Amino acid sequence: MENNRKVTLTYNDGKDNLEMPVLKGTLGPDVVDIRSFSKTGMFTFDPGFLATASCESQITFIDGDLGQLYYRGYPIEQLAEKSDYLEVCYLLLNGELPTAEERKVFERGIMRHNMLHDQLMSLFKGFRRDAHPMAVMVGVVGALSAFYHDSLDINNPEHRKISAHRLIAKLPNIAAQAYRYNKGLPFSYPKNGLTYAENFLHMMFSTPCEEYKVNKTLALALDRIFTLHADHEQNASTSTVRLAGSSGANPFACIAAGIACLWGPSHGGANEAVLKMLDEIGSVENVPAFMEGVKNKTHKLMGFGHRVYKNMDPRAAIMKETCDEVLSELGLHNDPKFKLAMALEKIALEDPYFIERKLYPNVDFYSGIVLSAIGIPVSMFTPIFALARTVGWISHWAEMIADPTMKIGRPRQLYTGAQRRDYIPQEQR
Ligand code: SDX
Repeated sequence: MENNRKVTLTYNDGKDNLEMPVLKGTLGPDVVDIRSFSKTGMFTFDPGFLATASCESQITFIDGDLGQLYYRGYPIEQLAEKSDYLEVCYLLLNGELPTAEERKVFERGIMRHNMLHDQLMSLFKGFRRDAHPMAVMVGVVGALSAFYHDSLDINNPEHRKISAHRLIAKLPNIAAQAYRYNKGLPFSYPKNGLTYAENFLHMMFSTPCEEYKVNKTLALALDRIFTLHADHEQNASTSTVRLAGSSGANPFACIAAGIACLWGPSHGGANEAVLKMLDEIGSVENVPAFMEGVKNKTHKLMGFGHRVYKNMDPRAAIMKETCDEVLSELGLHNDPKFKLAMALEKIALEDPYFIERKLYPNVDFYSGIVLSAIGIPVSMFTPIFALARTVGWISHWAEMIADPTMKIGRPRQLYTGAQRRDYIPQEQR
């Protein structure tokens, strides 16, 4: 990565200067290596990390201006069309697409871990029935740490591999049981022989009373949604997983931290917020008034905007196509929510307020409508995002732990609090 280019900082009124190397990646902007910056006696200041590369990674590349997203170099458009989620999991974890044999071994490895320890089922019962499924997922995934002492040596590559497989295999099951517990349904079990997405639908919606028939079109749409959400570089929840992992915490605790971060409405909670927003707007006639509220900052247009994409999120375009396919398959192409969403998108894309701020639909804008059409309740939208993103989180965690130069993440601050002062006894205050 070194290319002998440097930047020079002059400081102390030009009396001192510091040369810092410029590092060049395979794609994307160069970075200034500021690890020697403390020599200046100062810190850099970048709240929200708008201009900060927190690590080196080979997993996912995003170009926000061009609207490009590559998993291990492969464009998301090609993976969404030609691959499937389990193959994408193998790619993200191992860096290459699997051969037929590698795929078979990987799939079998995932399948043999898809059941939950029977004692774990008691944990669900500790929650109120009306608990948000994300609260259940944070708790149950964190509790996996208590069950797998045989694979918690993070410096053992085999332990890292089995933990990754366990998490990819169990997250759909945990999400489905959180849904069933909320509904008062008996717990269900995975059914080997189904695809990953088919199994999730089976675990969610099957009943002991009759054979559950999976709608293959809906399962394929769901599989594509998993692929679109699998990874996304150093987003807030992935950065959370990396920071938690940098202390040496076990992978289950780190993924639970990632789930907690993803829950926020500015991040993975946006798909749920989009549906609530569409319900609140109600009809196209109400869009102008809603947009006025957006412009005077009363509320945001959920599903729009992105820290990195200043062009259309490539996933949103694919999601819109998938939405159309699913609604047509279900005879819902006149679905009022979809029509309202398309009207909202058209209005926003022509409005100077959004154009000036480069606000485009992101992955969450259409995903909620697809999930809703598939019959997934709104409260399960973010859990689905979490189960799909688990492979991205654990791939970044494994990449970081395998890096011999890894250090615990410990940012500093600009302190603007009180100067040193002595304690004042209460009677003198
Ligand atoms: C995800 O990072 C990732 O990669 C995330 C993700 C992933 O795969 O991991 O892609 C998944 O989280 C997608 C984003 C989902 N969130 C939403 O849809 C919620 C709505 N979006 C916003 O909250 C916002 O756009 C963010 C949080 C996504 C990005 O915020 P930034 O980069 O910090 O942008 P900003 O807040 O600095 O906004 C710049 C301007 C501001 O206006 P001004 O102060 O300049 O007048 O744009 C405005 C903002 O008020 N703005 C919006 C807006 N988003 C930004 N105005 C109205 N509606 C919006 N949605």
